[in-house]
Amino acid sequence: MRSCNRRDSSLFTRAIVRTPGHNFAAGLTTVKLGVPKIARVLAQHASYCDALEKCGLTLTTLEADLGYPDSTFVEDVAVLTGRVAILARPGAPSRAGEVEAIRPVVESFFPATFSIEAPGTLDGGDICEAENHFYIGLSHRTNQEGARQLTVHLGASGYTSSIIDIRAMSSILHFKSGVSYIGENVLVVIEEMATDARFSKFDLISVGAEESYAANCVRVNDRVLIADGYPGLQRQLVARGFKPLALDMSEFQKMDGGLSCLSLRF
Ligand code: GLY
Repeated sequence: MRSCNRRDSSLFTRAIVRTPGHNFAAGLTTVKLGVPKIARVLAQHASYCDALEKCGLTLTTLEADLGYPDSTFVEDVAVLTGRVAILARPGAPSRAGEVEAIRPVVESFFPATFSIEAPGTLDGGDICEAENHFYIGLSHRTNQEGARQLTVHLGASGYTSSIIDIRAMSSILHFKSGVSYIGENVLVVIEEMATDARFSKFDLISVGAEESYAANCVRVNDRVLIADGYPGLQRQLVARGFKPLALDMSEFQKMDGGLSCLSLRF
């Protein structure tokens, strides 16, 4: 079942998702875009799951967990790679219990799973895989110790990693709110990151401030999932030969959620 020795970080066969609970709107948010409407949340989540299946993935769909309103953002609780799985330790206290709730599911696919331990904190949304290198965002959710532990676990499996401090960037919650690796050496970045020398080896797609939410996009096999309503990024993707698949994300955006947050892909 495990996708061992995956060579290309955009090739997946499976994903874990969790249905949003009716109390989704009680989760954390830093934006003021209004209160999500639960009927639309569920419809958008269903469309997201359909899109993953259309991309060829087999889904493990977990029931809503009303104890954790943010738990539909499953990406934050683990880092799944082709060689190793690491359970995260979310930096927001209200999300801490999400890890134990998903542990058996992750372990059913990755029997030798590691964990980030206290005092380390780490949100999966801060981790960006670009082939065999991992960028680890140091954020208000992921601390130095969490980043250090992840570096050790990844290194033991032959991956390299580097740490990018985003704590001064008020426009993004997680590193991947502003950066997405979509294969073929292409990195989608918000403008603030476009001049960062650490990303100069990539073919950069810079997303303007008016489309910054769209920088969180996800390559899944031969498609790139992007948020609907961002024609600039869509044009740039098509111009480079990618096949975007646009999804309405309005209700998740209200809770600081992006496309990558809604699944653990492996
Ligand atoms: N609402 C998602 C988070 O803050 O983690």
